[in-house]
Amino acid sequence: MIKACVIGWPISHSRSPLIHGYWLRQLGIDGSYTRQPVEPASLSKFINELGTAGYAGCNVTIPHKEAVFELVAGADASTERLGAVNTVYLRDGKVLGTNTDGEGFINSLRQGAPDLKLANQRAVILGAGGASLAVVNAILEQGVTEVAVANRTREKAEMLRHRFGSRVTPIDWVETADQLGECCLLVNTTSLGMKGQPALELDLSRLGKHAVVTDIVYTPLRTRLLEDAAARGNRVVEGLGMLLHQAVRGFSLWFGVTPQVTEELYELVARDIDPDFRR
Ligand SMILES: NC(=O)c1ccc[n+]([C@@H]2O[C@H](COP(=O)([O-])OP(=O)(O)OC[C@H]3O[C@@H](n4cnc5c(N)ncnc54)[C@H](OP(=O)(O)O)[C@@H]3O)[C@@H](O)[C@H]2O)c1
Repeated sequence: MIKACVIGWPISHSRSPLIHGYWLRQLGIDGSYTRQPVEPASLSKFINELGTAGYAGCNVTIPHKEAVFELVAGADASTERLGAVNTVYLRDGKVLGTNTDGEGFINSLRQGAPDLKLANQRAVILGAGGASLAVVNAILEQGVTEVAVANRTREKAEMLRHRFGSRVTPIDWVETADQLGECCLLVNTTSLGMKGQPALELDLSRLGKHAVVTDIVYTPLRTRLLEDAAARGNRVVEGLGMLLHQAVRGFSLWFGVTPQVTEELYELVARDIDPDFRR
């Protein structure tokens, strides 16, 4: 039996077992995927002994993504740029790390807005935290000319420019609404709008009608930003898609089969978030 898990501290909230458990059943694979609470003091021991404990690999979530990057024996170039790992796997006895958040974001966007062209366009990103890093990196890899980043703490947006270069333009949080013209994509990567957090208040009146709006917050499944954008006719992509798509490569690395993000999987996880969910 092939074993994988998700580690974090705490970890009880993670929906990854629901996703990987669905694929294991659907594909008839003799495998398991469990939640493992790992406190920071035990992290290096857990990663070093992953293979001995019988795991093919693991997902990594808050607060361990940066620490695990430092612990793995190697990572690909895109993950090196981020300095954060969300997927660990074993190859030739070595513990390797990668980050699938960016491709999860892009593949979800491609599924929800297939004709969106990012090359030579401008995107506006709200937030400059851990998730923003992966999203900004992924959008830059798609060939945009500019990623304007608005963050409450402006220095963190400035840090993204230092990290990724001059195509990242920090903008003032209070000026976000004025910066929405001529962008093809607006993304919320802040925790605003998440259940239990303050609302995201943003005037969308300057946003072009063809712009796509997406929110990586997925509790609720449709945030107010998405409701507001949809009400004025913009195309919207929900954040749950990113969570599902980021899981694909890890599953393939551990269990040897590339799974599909199906409508059935979306509904399974959506109903776990909101029992009243209906398409
Ligand atoms: N869909 C997915 O697969 C996926 C993946 C990862 C994360 N997420 C979601 O993305 C969100 C952010 O996660 P993260 O890991 O990036 O968190 P993080 O590193 O803690 O960053 C939080 C971000 O939200 C901003 N923020 C928080 N409170 C704010 C407020 N009151 N006003 C204005 N800005 C505020 C922070 O701004 P400051 O820098 O000024 O503090 C920062 O930019 C969470 O809701 C998480 O669940 C979704």
